[in-house]
Amino acid sequence: MTDLNAFIDGLPKAELHLHIEGSLEPELMFALAERNKVAIPFDSVEAVRAAYDFSNLQDFLDIYYAGANVLLTRQDFEDLAFAYFQRAAADNVRHAEIFFDPQTHTDRGVPFGVVVEGLIAGMDRAKAELGVTSGLILSFLRHLSEDEAFATLEMARPYLHHFVGVGLDSSEVGHPPSKFQRVFAAAQAMGLKLCAHAGEEGPPEYVWEALDLLHIDRMDHGNRSMEDPALVRRIVAEGMTLTVCPLSNHKLCVVDDLKDHPVPEMLRQGIRVTLNSDDPAYFGGYVNENYRQLAAAVGLTREQLTLMARNSFAGSFLDDAAKAERIAEVEAYAAT
Ligand code: ADE
Ligand code: ZN
Repeated sequence: MTDLNAFIDGLPKAELHLHIEGSLEPELMFALAERNKVAIPFDSVEAVRAAYDFSNLQDFLDIYYAGANVLLTRQDFEDLAFAYFQRAAADNVRHAEIFFDPQTHTDRGVPFGVVVEGLIAGMDRAKAELGVTSGLILSFLRHLSEDEAFATLEMARPYLHHFVGVGLDSSEVGHPPSKFQRVFAAAQAMGLKLCAHAGEEGPPEYVWEALDLLHIDRMDHGNRSMEDPALVRRIVAEGMTLTVCPLSNHKLCVVDDLKDHPVPEMLRQGIRVTLNSDDPAYFGGYVNENYRQLAAAVGLTREQLTLMARNSFAGSFLDDAAKAERIAEVEAYAAT
C-alpha cells in the first residue's frame, strides 16, 4: 500500500452520492433470494459479477432494477443498509446521505413504510454501533411520469421527518429536469433539500435546467457541465457541490479512461468536488476505492484529497455546527 493510499484510508469523509439499492452485493442478493424464495436469473455469485459489464447507463439500470427484486421485507432493507454502513465505516466514512428509489419497490407491491422503516432501522444501528451518522434522500425515477412522482411524494408525507431531501435519478436522456419542476417545488415547500442527477449522460442544457428550474441544493455527477464554460462559471459562483463518482463514470462509459476523468480540471476551475461510490456493488468499489483509483490515474495530491474530503462535509446537509466539527477533524488529520 502506498503512503497516499494509507492517507486516503484514514481521511475522515462523508459520502453524498450512494444509492442504497446499488450497494446490494451479489452474496446478499443470493441470501435474500433464498430467504424470500425469489428466483434470480443467475446460478452463482461469479455469474452475477460477470454480468456487470455495462456499455451505458441503461445497460446498468436494467440489471440494477432486476437485482432489487429480492428486497421484500423490513428486515431485508435493514440488512441492506447496515451492510453498506459496515463498508462505509471501514472506509472512515463518518456521515452518509443515501438515496433510495421508493418507486422501484412500491411498483412491485412493497409498501412504502416497509422500505423506509427498514432503512431507518439500519441507519439507527449504524449510528449506535458504528458511530456513522446519516440522512435519507427519496429519489424519483425520472423515466416515470410527473403524476407518479407526485403520488410518491404523497406516500412520503407521513414519513417526512425521516428525509433530508429528494433526488432525481434513472435514465437521464429524454427525461430533462423540467419534467419534474412542479414536484421539486412541492418538495421544497415541504422543507426538503433538493438534489438531481444532471450531466451524467445528459447535455449541459439539463444541468442549466436543474439549476434554473429545479433550484437544486446539490448536483449529482455534473460531468458534462465541463462542456460549457458559462455553466462552469455559474457552478463556481454559486458554490454548488458536485457529487462525482469516478468508478461509476468509468464503468458506465461516461469516461473511456480514468486518466481522462474531469476531476482535476473541475478542481482547477474551483468547483466544489466530492468523491463518491454511486452503486459500489456494481462498479467495483466503495468510496476509498474511488479516491485511490482516481488518485493513481490522474495523480492527485494530499492537498486535493483533503479538499475533497472537506467539501464532502461542507456540501452535506448537516447543520453548521456539525459541519464545522467534522471539517476540523479533516484538518487535524491532514496536519498530522
Ligand atoms: N440509479 C442508480 N445509479 C444511478 C446513476 N448512476 N445514474 C442514474 N440513476 C441511477
Ligand atoms: Zn447516482
